[in-house]
Amino acid sequence: MDTYRIAVIAGDGIGPEVTAESIKVLEAISEKDGRFCFEFTYYPWGCEYYLKTGQTMPKDGLEILKDYDAILLGAVGYPGVPDHISLRELLLEIRHGFDQYINLRPIKLLKGAPTPLKDVNVGDIDMTFIRENSEGEYAGSGAWLYKDQPNEVVIQDSVFSRKGCERVFRYAYELARKEGKSLTSISKGNALNYSMVYWDQIFKEVGADYPDVETHSYLVDAAAMLMVKDPKRFQIVVASNLFGDILTDLGAAISGGMGLAAGANINPERTFPSMFEPIHGSAPDIAGKGIANPIASIWTAGQMLTFLGYGEWEERIVKAVEE
Ligand code: IPM
Ligand code: MN
Repeated sequence: MDTYRIAVIAGDGIGPEVTAESIKVLEAISEKDGRFCFEFTYYPWGCEYYLKTGQTMPKDGLEILKDYDAILLGAVGYPGVPDHISLRELLLEIRHGFDQYINLRPIKLLKGAPTPLKDVNVGDIDMTFIRENSEGEYAGSGAWLYKDQPNEVVIQDSVFSRKGCERVFRYAYELARKEGKSLTSISKGNALNYSMVYWDQIFKEVGADYPDVETHSYLVDAAAMLMVKDPKRFQIVVASNLFGDILTDLGAAISGGMGLAAGANINPERTFPSMFEPIHGSAPDIAGKGIANPIASIWTAGQMLTFLGYGEWEERIVKAVEE
């Protein structure tokens, strides 16, 4: 029997509540399946930890995590600790440090889930977002000059490397080919004359190897509108870090809400562990009340099972949720 070692960072707010539920599901599945089991190790990192130690995760956090088979994360962030500190030092540190350059987010209207859209049925919203997760607008490069002086200047650079673009597009094209679906790239090449013109160029270049894949390219503003007006036209979608971030919240909103929104941060080469986390935040307003929807976390655990080679269990989880 295979034993998978999972590092659990339940984190803040509703993180621990929803993660506890997905762990119950994982335990039940491993018992039923019989081919594998889990060994969970809990790390109490996050904002409470920060208030005690001055760090959201220890300095050697990546070193501690690097030999696990996967990381299960609840949510990070809590009032009292600035978000840009807690998230840069923990969530983004892990995504970047472990080169989890694919952020895989299913946007699918499940049977029985509410959608605010009119005349939309199950099947009409069935997208897979591939968000670039290692660079772009989140590269963390910039400067804060002449702080608090009249000539104060801040610069936040977007970084789009050839390697970074090629690999995310290749992943997207491969998935589109495998699933026989169309691939839509999200751009803003009409205004962002370096980053997004380059993005479009590399999308085309990589596409030369995939003449069988139907492609579309939409500007991000138009894509936001079309996701509401005509979501059917999106199947596999590839977007930069920030555009993917924004559009997947919109995607969650039209397909049942944040409580159903799953996500996986994947290092496809498996050089480092991948991290599975619901899209939603720590929701401090409802934390501790036992009312947070754990389904996003449970589906995320299903994505982890797929990554570990047991994709049939993710399908069964989604079906069970629908039922
Ligand atoms: C997400 C979140 C994070 C992001 C925040 C919390 C830094 O919104 O996973 O979508 O922007 O990536
Ligand atoms: Mn987000």
